[in-house]
Amino acid sequence: MPNVTLVVNGGIAAYKACEVLRGLQKAGCDVRVTMTEDATRFVGEATFRALTHHEVVTSLYGNASTDIPHIELADFADLVLVVPATGNFVAKMALGIADDAASTTLLAAHSTVLVAPAMNVNMWRNPATQQNVRTLLSRGVEFVMPDSGELACGYVGEGKLASVEDIVSRALALLGLATEGSPLTGKHVLVTAGPTHEAIDPVRYIANASTGKMGFAIAREAARRGARVTLVAGPCELPTPAGVDRVDVVSAWQMHDAALSSFYDADVAICAAAVADYTPAEPADHKLKKAHEHLDSIRLVETADILAELSAAKGARKVVGFAAETHDLMANAQAKLARKGCDMIVANDVSRADSTFGSDTDRVAFVYADHVEQLDTLPLASVASELLDRVGALLEAGT
Ligand code: CTP
Repeated sequence: MPNVTLVVNGGIAAYKACEVLRGLQKAGCDVRVTMTEDATRFVGEATFRALTHHEVVTSLYGNASTDIPHIELADFADLVLVVPATGNFVAKMALGIADDAASTTLLAAHSTVLVAPAMNVNMWRNPATQQNVRTLLSRGVEFVMPDSGELACGYVGEGKLASVEDIVSRALALLGLATEGSPLTGKHVLVTAGPTHEAIDPVRYIANASTGKMGFAIAREAARRGARVTLVAGPCELPTPAGVDRVDVVSAWQMHDAALSSFYDADVAICAAAVADYTPAEPADHKLKKAHEHLDSIRLVETADILAELSAAKGARKVVGFAAETHDLMANAQAKLARKGCDMIVANDVSRADSTFGSDTDRVAFVYADHVEQLDTLPLASVASELLDRVGALLEAGT
């Protein structure tokens, strides 16, 4: 039976933690609870005690069942789940501050940590909060990002706790207990991500501005939906999402070989990588010295088009490509769809600040042979979710 330590913070969404707890229990999890003092002002300790049949830890001192509750709760957990996470708690996690039972449990945690923030839209958008979230993501902490909607404070915007279903299904997927029902459950999804580096000599290379964030977000979301995910990643410094099988590559040709060898038993390939179209024809085997190896040009040769090759070989499998364009977005994306022979192109205008390489948001259009769906600017996790909804529909539609 998987064990979950549920950390409840003081916010109006604290009552939803009770429903999350019930959802986890129904799926067979054993749950223990620690609450901040502020959380106890929103939901009584007695509620969680009654639901878990265990003592609820609100202080490091005076616990009947243990003298070191934070270590016991951390060691107990296969997953530590923070619902709701306040801006203050996220900041404390980012800094490693441990000044109460809940935050000390987080500092002692050594299993997967999943955080579901909920706060006022301006608190969420505050650069300090966004920086803290990025810091935690870079350390491998998982997030169920807040939804947009009417907030308890009267504002409308992002900051609303994600739905109980989303939090529970994400937690179960991280525990390896994927919920049934997604068309991606049990499917093998191949994702390419990041840039490639094409060697000029052993220390110099040709690269591009891709960070890999989009591909990694897709891999994370596919795993969350219960897919077996192979992530073929070019050089990028992102943590491997939980449950994802990562294959690191450097050059376009290495990415080609890794992608093709995983494709044979894949159900779908999503090519989000920014693959170099050209590579130096004769990379030097030593560091070039400008004093006696003057270089005024580099002869390039074309690399393989991975997306086109996968599409040509796909049969009943589904293949999705990306088109990052700076002009004539739709015309270029539609031409690319036809040229590459894939099932769908995700088009984005990288000349826009909210959609460019390295951004945490994207404004994409899903381009099919017979229609286009334009989305608003969304966080990358939401773009990944929207994309995988479409991929699920493609899989369900069959050939
Ligand atoms: N792609 C690929 N292999 C390549 C080049 C691109 O698999 N050698 C894939 C990318 O992963 C992406 C799609 O093709 O899904 C489009 O990439 P892009 O660079 O926009 O297309 P190109 O064919 O290179 O066209 P151009 O650079 O002329 O826009």
